[in-house]
Amino acid sequence: MSFQRLLDYVEREIGFATSYYNDAYLDRRISARMRRTDCDDYAEYRERLRADPDEPALLLDSLNVNVTGFFRNPETWSAVVPILRALTEERQRATLWSVPCADGREPYTLSMLALDDADVAASRLSILASDIDPNALASARDGVYHTTRTTDIAAELDPLSTAGEYVTREGDEFRVTDRVQSLVEFSQHDLIQDRPPGEFDMVVCRNLFIYIDAQYKRPIFETLDEALRPGGYLVIGRTETVHRDFKETFESVDSERRIYRKAPAE
Ligand SMILES: C[S@@+](CC[C@H](N)C(=O)[O-])C[C@H]1O[C@@H](n2cnc3c(N)ncnc32)[C@H](O)[C@@H]1O
Repeated sequence: MSFQRLLDYVEREIGFATSYYNDAYLDRRISARMRRTDCDDYAEYRERLRADPDEPALLLDSLNVNVTGFFRNPETWSAVVPILRALTEERQRATLWSVPCADGREPYTLSMLALDDADVAASRLSILASDIDPNALASARDGVYHTTRTTDIAAELDPLSTAGEYVTREGDEFRVTDRVQSLVEFSQHDLIQDRPPGEFDMVVCRNLFIYIDAQYKRPIFETLDEALRPGGYLVIGRTETVHRDFKETFESVDSERRIYRKAPAE
């Protein structure tokens, strides 16, 4: 059986949009599951997916790229604070879109940054956070995170001077406070298929392009362009680049931190 036939099966029967992702990424993840289940080839692994009721969920877990963190790449967030100050000074209501937001730690980072800085008028800010994955959104809405062997939530919150104001802690469990949650709303959104859910002054779209198939980069940039007001800011991941057709649309503001600005209206 070819790799493509296995991918078709996963897309059709398990409902994961394999066609969005690049083959090298999919092959790495599926091969890892094949090793764990002692399957020697794609046909054997498809059989395993059919016969073992637990395997589809285990595969989905390993395919869903929802690695994230509070204050992921802290230096990016230091550069975002002055932009939040300027936006909330200039506008009665400044709107931000964090997409994809995974389990919510990125939009909550934005909310904490705004609340933690005396010169950001947080009451003027609203943050919409979206992801394609309904499970990630359910965790995001809960706002509860755990320190595990691989995730140290206290360390992630280090950039905050007083993390205790924004999360309550019981042992290894960290709960984002109502005040932090009050700035954020969540909605399901597919960046490739759906139109933008509004107009925004800043869009944070980080760490999706690294997994997505090259052909989808353009439609995503179209959505980002449509979502941003003239003069609005775009933040992408530290190892990501603007699609070549949009180099004129988005002018670099901070090349190292990958912050761009859409040309202001004439
Ligand atoms: C690595 S996480 C990035 C989270 C966060 N932006 C960060 O940098 O920490 C990638 C997320 O993209 C989401 N995703 C994948 N395809 C998507 C699509 N077409 N539209 C919206 N979200 C998508 C996944 O569900 C996953 O939560």
